[in-house]
Amino acid sequence: MTILTPPAPTALDVVAGHDLTGRTAVVTGGASGIGLETVRALALAGARVVIGARDPRAAGAAGAAAADLRKSTGNQAVTVAALDLGSLRSVREFADALLEQRDPVHLLIANAGVMGLPPGRTADGFETHLGVNHLGHFALTVRLLPALRSAGHARVVVVGSSSHHLGGLDLDDPHFEHRPYDPYLAYAQSKTANALFAVALTGRHRADGVLANTVSPGAALTGLQRHLSAETKLAVGLVGPDGTPNPRLRTAAQGAATPVWAAVAPELAGTGGAYLEDCALAEPWDGQGPPRGYLPEALDPERAARLWDVSAALVGVG
Ligand SMILES: NC(=O)c1ccc[n+]([C@@H]2O[C@H](COP(=O)([O-])OP(=O)(O)OC[C@H]3O[C@@H](n4cnc5c(N)ncnc54)[C@H](OP(=O)(O)O)[C@@H]3O)[C@@H](O)[C@H]2O)c1
Repeated sequence: MTILTPPAPTALDVVAGHDLTGRTAVVTGGASGIGLETVRALALAGARVVIGARDPRAAGAAGAAAADLRKSTGNQAVTVAALDLGSLRSVREFADALLEQRDPVHLLIANAGVMGLPPGRTADGFETHLGVNHLGHFALTVRLLPALRSAGHARVVVVGSSSHHLGGLDLDDPHFEHRPYDPYLAYAQSKTANALFAVALTGRHRADGVLANTVSPGAALTGLQRHLSAETKLAVGLVGPDGTPNPRLRTAAQGAATPVWAAVAPELAGTGGAYLEDCALAEPWDGQGPPRGYLPEALDPERAARLWDVSAALVGVG
């Protein structure tokens, strides 16, 4: 986990001066944490934003977050629709409702994620981290391709993590059936898959104008860590011995800076399959000293192609 000392820019700093009027953005998990701050920035720049959230009811937390965003940004085109990435049926219903509107999708921010869960399976029998963080986003993106293609130039931002440095991707055992289950390895596997997915998607759909990059947002105390024990939070530096948050952590708004940069930066036109952090292209880790940047195997095109094939077979798409 990369813990950096503020000041780091916020998503609002990054989006300043950008006009996204006429653009449609889809943000998964956009009702809390880094996703919510991503939506706030895109909405302030004038985008129409569709938040995918498990419970879209107006009376629920996501509905309240969207209402608050409409009020605080003055952008009435912020809506919530039901999306459970742990259910392929829900993913299909969410995507098909968007496709029915026949509007292009210019930005897809694959942000939702879970971490540190005990052993479990999604509705379709996938290991939960891989199922929600990668396979759900894979199925969603593939289903939305007609709307992404029709945007002319679409950007897919896959929110990954420096946790991919733990490795863990085993395409012969994606659901931990033949190795001991470890929640952090399961998370790392899914985050490696996020990076490889951006590579494979770009390789297949660059000619359609669809480019994907993966982003490391940096460490921020959010709902993501809700399943970590107090001991683990202390051990990884999220909190101090007295339980108070590490002051060097980013805020969610700072965590959203690089996802928003990936969505709007003009200098990224034509860039796909890259790993971004701190609002810049990251360097590959040279294996010396503490892990930083990205592991070269997380952007390996051959591994990415194999992940695509395995993912397509699992979710039943081409
Ligand atoms: N925070 C960090 O330090 C950090 C570091 C590196 C990477 N990241 C990445 O940043 C992204 C955002 O995380 P965050 O820190 O903002 O955490 P967060 O506040 O917990 O946000 C995660 C979002 O994902 C949603 N979600 C979880 N399971 C879902 C499902 N099955 N279907 C649809 N949505 C689901 C959550 O909705 P519910 O409220 O319904 O659960 C929540 O809105 C994640 O991909 C995470 O891996 C975060």
